[in-house]
Amino acid sequence: MKGSRGPRSPLWLARLSREKLGLPAALLFCALFFLAGLFGSLLIFSPSPSQDGRVPRLLLELDDADAERPAMNNGKTGEPTTTLIPFQVLSWKPRALYFPKFATAEQCQTIVKKAKSRLRPSTLALRKGENAENTKGIRTSSGTFLSSSEDSSGVLRQIEEKIARATMIPREHGEAFNVLRYEIGQRYASHYDAFNPAEYGPQKSQRVASFLLYLTDVEEGGETMFPYEDGSNMDIGYDYEKCIGLKVKPRQGDGLLFYSLFLNGTIDATSLHGSCPVVKGEKWVATKWIRDQIDNRQPSCHTGEYMYDLPPHVIK
Ligand SMILES: *[C@@H]1O[C@H](CO)[C@@H](O)[C@H](O)[C@H]1NC(C)=O
Repeated sequence: MKGSRGPRSPLWLARLSREKLGLPAALLFCALFFLAGLFGSLLIFSPSPSQDGRVPRLLLELDDADAERPAMNNGKTGEPTTTLIPFQVLSWKPRALYFPKFATAEQCQTIVKKAKSRLRPSTLALRKGENAENTKGIRTSSGTFLSSSEDSSGVLRQIEEKIARATMIPREHGEAFNVLRYEIGQRYASHYDAFNPAEYGPQKSQRVASFLLYLTDVEEGGETMFPYEDGSNMDIGYDYEKCIGLKVKPRQGDGLLFYSLFLNGTIDATSLHGSCPVVKGEKWVATKWIRDQIDNRQPSCHTGEYMYDLPPHVIK
């Protein structure tokens, strides 16, 4: 109704002018409120200064997603829950992974104690023309083989199972643990863990990978070294006793996995490795060599060592 709007009176004018002023004021107020809200939310949800790179943020998001996600249905041979086995890729040439805190200090101490009573000077697989005399000094550590079947504490079995899960290579493919002690000055010149058929003759099975579990911290020296990492030093007539290249410092309970073979079965030349001399302290390490065939050889009843002792051999 026309009349309801009332006459043009001063009161009506005043109301109109208030409305005309009120509309822009309300808009301005809303805009300010919106901006305040926007900045407020940015302050609350902005990443902390330490999160500078994109990778950590991505990892953070993955972590959040994992927390809400239930474990996948598992098959008969699988596991009902997820496991966290942290690792660091040390190198792609050779393929080398580091596993911090793979074993506990107690587990390490148990293995050292068990091995201590059985230590003997480490031996070498000899090639044509090599004998004890002319290979002296290549491998100066003491060691022993320990099989999980003769370990009543169950620790070796636990470690074996964890290695099998981390590598997805069944436990049966592993040789018995070779536990080594390096004292001051003791070392292991660079060598391959795999056996080149051209030098050692045809092999029934081959070592695919090696898992080293450091049983003690070493105050100084004793690093595992890969002198050819990423193809370096390969063309300089490298002295196999020299400690160069990628060096991995032993830390109690930490694990180091590397592959000696490419996927096509040939030996990866960059998997050449050795042990730098211990300068201070003592180095204890348990090595698990993993083969392409199931390893069912039995330790000799006389020496506790395997019937055909394998290791290494320096390449020349
Ligand atoms: C095996 O694989 C490696 C790495 O991919 C390659 O460099 C090499 O040539 C291959 N050897 C044979 C015989 O296929």
